[in-house]
Amino acid sequence: MPLFRNHSPSPANGRNSKPQAAPQPSSPPPASNAPAHAPNPPKPADPAPEKAPYAPPPGFRKVREDVQQFLANEIKSLIDVSDSAEVRRLAEPVFTKALEDAQLVVSRVEREQMMAMIMADILGYGPIQPLLDRDDISEVMVNGPNQVYIEQRGKLTLSNVKFVDNDHILRVIERIVTPLGRRIDESSPMVDARLPDGSRVNAIIPPLSLVGPVITIRKFNKDPLKIDDLIRFGSMTPEFAEFVRAAVVAGANVIISGGTGSGKTTLLNVLSSFIPENERILTIEDAAELQLQQPHCVRLEARPANNEGKGRIAIRDLVVNALRMRPDRIVVGECRGGEALDMLQAMNTGHDGSLTTIHSNSARDTLNRIETMVLMAGMELPLRAIRQQIASAIDLIVHQSRLRDGSRKVVQASEVVGMEGDTIVMQDVFRFEQTGIDENGKILGELLPTGLRPRINDRIEDAGIHLPPSVFGLNEGTAWYKME
Ligand SMILES: Nc1ncnc2c1ncn2[C@@H]1O[C@H](COP(=O)(O)OP(=O)(O)OP(=O)(O)O)[C@@H](O)[C@H]1O
Ligand SMILES: [Mg+2]
Repeated sequence: MPLFRNHSPSPANGRNSKPQAAPQPSSPPPASNAPAHAPNPPKPADPAPEKAPYAPPPGFRKVREDVQQFLANEIKSLIDVSDSAEVRRLAEPVFTKALEDAQLVVSRVEREQMMAMIMADILGYGPIQPLLDRDDISEVMVNGPNQVYIEQRGKLTLSNVKFVDNDHILRVIERIVTPLGRRIDESSPMVDARLPDGSRVNAIIPPLSLVGPVITIRKFNKDPLKIDDLIRFGSMTPEFAEFVRAAVVAGANVIISGGTGSGKTTLLNVLSSFIPENERILTIEDAAELQLQQPHCVRLEARPANNEGKGRIAIRDLVVNALRMRPDRIVVGECRGGEALDMLQAMNTGHDGSLTTIHSNSARDTLNRIETMVLMAGMELPLRAIRQQIASAIDLIVHQSRLRDGSRKVVQASEVVGMEGDTIVMQDVFRFEQTGIDENGKILGELLPTGLRPRINDRIEDAGIHLPPSVFGLNEGTAWYKME
């Protein structure tokens, strides 16, 4: 039975809409030396126009189906789909015959292109495979068969890639999720998954999606950004980098906040890389994205419920468990719910130097979100008690934004200094000051120190790190003022 009505105007193609063989996807393309992410544009000229993909003649549809049917039905148990040469050897005669049957006369070049499309369907992820192979594309978004958007250098553009119909997209989704023991259909129409290379995938299909099956892929950075890259892109200044590195080394509890896709996980990865090598690090994530290089690092990953709705292990469960694993540092990929309370309690009971990210609109908003999350933990704590926990647990909030020009920048670093009555008091240590917009639309400005000496500097000094007062915008001769 089809999973959903096919809204494509094309005639029924008689293809069995049951998923065909769900071969293991091809192994990820070999790492290239090109930078794997999209840096802020030095000059935000539009990316080079995409080459229009090969548009095969209408008869190709039948040829493609014939080859797929053959491979799926006749020989699926025989072929090792990771052996692409073997698959090609088997597919080629069927392809030649299907071309003859369809009475298609094609040039050698065209023939090669058709074969490449068939191979991409069998071995990879169909029409989006070439986009996934490109290092300059950071995100791929399929909104039904006729609309595939890509993100390059922080900017969205509509690509020329199209799927045949809804079923074609659905087969790609199945190829992604089936090897993971997950499924997608009317009864479970959304799924989170990962590609073998670590790219994060979300898929949602009709009836929940009204535009056909939708796939969103956040591509995995083979070569994750480092602090120097962030400085080079103008996402932060060397002074801020120096400060935040010292804060992490000194064991500050840091929350990275920001909107969707603002670069929170990337920054978390960078800040986590500052954790000294002699400390035991526990990372807890929904889908393991962090790539820490320290030798003593234990990585935990939450688990969604299985097809029967059982077996879910939430981030919160892992945080609670992590506390029994003698962590020096706990790094949580993202706090979204009740785990916030466990994190705060951990931070307040001697597990200093914990790091996490939170989705929010500003540093102040981050505190409100944490409050709400703690309430979600269902402990019925009085608000004031929650705020006190927050104020004593969190040292620093680093807020990152994706700006209108597509660049990602740290826009605020705010220290949590305590309580005044019922209010948590914060003070900005760094703030992004916009000075203008250049003729290409690029936002000009800098992350500047506010001229306040943060309290956390005492801890930094205790850790044996002396930051020059100029880091905070103070003259060398300025007397540090000390807050009690
Ligand atoms: N400072 C930066 N400059 C340029 N690109 C960046 C920067 N930080 C992150 N990116 C890129 O932006 C994309 C999103 O980054 P990331 O996954 O860290 O965001 P996020 O805020 O964690 O997203 P989500 O809310 O979906 O979890 C990635 O492709 C990443 O390589
Ligand atoms: Mg993230």
